[in-house]
Amino acid sequence: MQRTLSIIKPDAVKKNVIGEILSRFEKNGLKIVAMKYLHLSKDDAARFYIVHKDRPFYGELTDFMSSGPVVVSVLEGEDAVAKNRKLMGATNPKEAEKGTIRADFADSIDANAVHGSDSLENAKIEIDFFFNKLEIK
Ligand code: CMP
Repeated sequence: MQRTLSIIKPDAVKKNVIGEILSRFEKNGLKIVAMKYLHLSKDDAARFYIVHKDRPFYGELTDFMSSGPVVVSVLEGEDAVAKNRKLMGATNPKEAEKGTIRADFADSIDANAVHGSDSLENAKIEIDFFFNKLEIK
């Protein structure tokens, strides 16, 4: 069993597809074991994406992630990190496989509907960023 962090980004929240995206997780064997709806500040987004601080897209990414509310959840299941990444599809929606969340709901590489942890190690760091011990055991 693994846990991974998922963020439904501001573009997908605006499109009113929170339920459709969560339902894809559930239908594919991932259980939602913690969840919150929140509007990140630019500083929150900058801290969350600190690993990308030297990348040219850091400013745009953190502007976008603080442009509206997001839904953050912890998904649990067998091989959860890889399973979630497969369901999401490629980072750039133009390259995302048909039937993936990004192929169906994303508009651009920034407004790409969802974020998912890229490794088990980062999943733990990202879960700890958003959820305290009362919110997830
Ligand atoms: P995400 O999985 O949230 O992780 C970092 C985000 O940076 C990524 O999805 C994209 O939305 C955004 N991004 C913008 N440009 C790029 C790029 N050239 N390569 C990777 N990620 C990018």
